[in-house]
Amino acid sequence: MAEPKWLTTSAGIKMPPILYGTAWKKEQTTTFVMQAIQTGFRGIDTAGQPKHYDESRVGEAIGRLGELGLKREDLFIQTKFTPVSGQDHSNMPYDPEASPVDQVTQSFTSSLRNLKTGYVDSLVLHSPLATLRQTMEVWNAMEAFFKSGEVKQLGISNCYSLSTLQSIYAKAEVKPAVVQNRFYQASGYDIDLRAWSAEKNILYQSFWTLTANPHLLAGNPVTTIAARHNRTSAQVFFRFLTQRGIVPLTGTRSEQHMKEDLAIFEFELSDEELKLIEELL
Ligand SMILES: NC(=O)c1ccc[n+]([C@@H]2O[C@H](COP(=O)([O-])OP(=O)(O)OC[C@H]3O[C@@H](n4cnc5c(N)ncnc54)[C@H](OP(=O)(O)O)[C@@H]3O)[C@@H](O)[C@H]2O)c1
Repeated sequence: MAEPKWLTTSAGIKMPPILYGTAWKKEQTTTFVMQAIQTGFRGIDTAGQPKHYDESRVGEAIGRLGELGLKREDLFIQTKFTPVSGQDHSNMPYDPEASPVDQVTQSFTSSLRNLKTGYVDSLVLHSPLATLRQTMEVWNAMEAFFKSGEVKQLGISNCYSLSTLQSIYAKAEVKPAVVQNRFYQASGYDIDLRAWSAEKNILYQSFWTLTANPHLLAGNPVTTIAARHNRTSAQVFFRFLTQRGIVPLTGTRSEQHMKEDLAIFEFELSDEELKLIEELL
């Protein structure tokens, strides 16, 4: 398997060009995360949001692989602070009545404990809050962990308004290094937001990349290009994204798909092929 070249973010942090997502795997989380890392993934995405992610089972996988010789510095670990609106109140990693600073502190302390690590490479705000003032209160609390060295970079997710992203960027002392968004038609594939992010060296991570785009995967030109390269449509679409500087997340549970997703770095799409796929967006 070709070793994919890691990207360097604006914070100077090395990030793999494809990430393994750990959502919705419940009690199978440890098994799938171990399998993904053993297959070759080095970037792991999770969240302090027990409703969808089992961070402690992600940590279990990292711990077990550590005993087998995997070094912490060989992994890129990203977790999220999930505001109250995204939590299940019966199972959440902080007191919803606490101040925003205390919520972030409790959540992040729990993430470090769960993940059995002294630092995370990337801490992402799961979504902007109702007002910019509230968003910045939480952001400033996240910045404190950047300053202490326990977080190496910050990011924002589910931010589909360019003006919101620009306001956060303008007000932040520690600028967002990544934005993680759903890659879909309803947001116009974030064309303007991605262009502005590229100018600011904010790397774009995509999720829902395959599930939201069956029409693109099943039609031309993706199928024709896939046949030409003897690859699957999913591989061609992921490769297209990585050649355009986007970091896709995949949460596949299939070993075959894990291998295929990593094998995208073994082939290259031509400028003409990239253009044809770009025209679909
Ligand atoms: N920030 C947020 O709000 C947010 C929201 C959702 C997700 N995420 C993150 O993004 C990660 C990925 O989630 P996702 O929503 O994009 O979907 P996903 O969990 O990766 O699901 C992709 C689907 O496509 C299928 N598939 C078919 N061919 C595939 C291939 N070659 N490679 C990969 N999958 C293939 C998978 O089936 P098989 O399992 O059979 O391969 C699966 O059913 C999550 O685990 C999470 O970390 C973040």
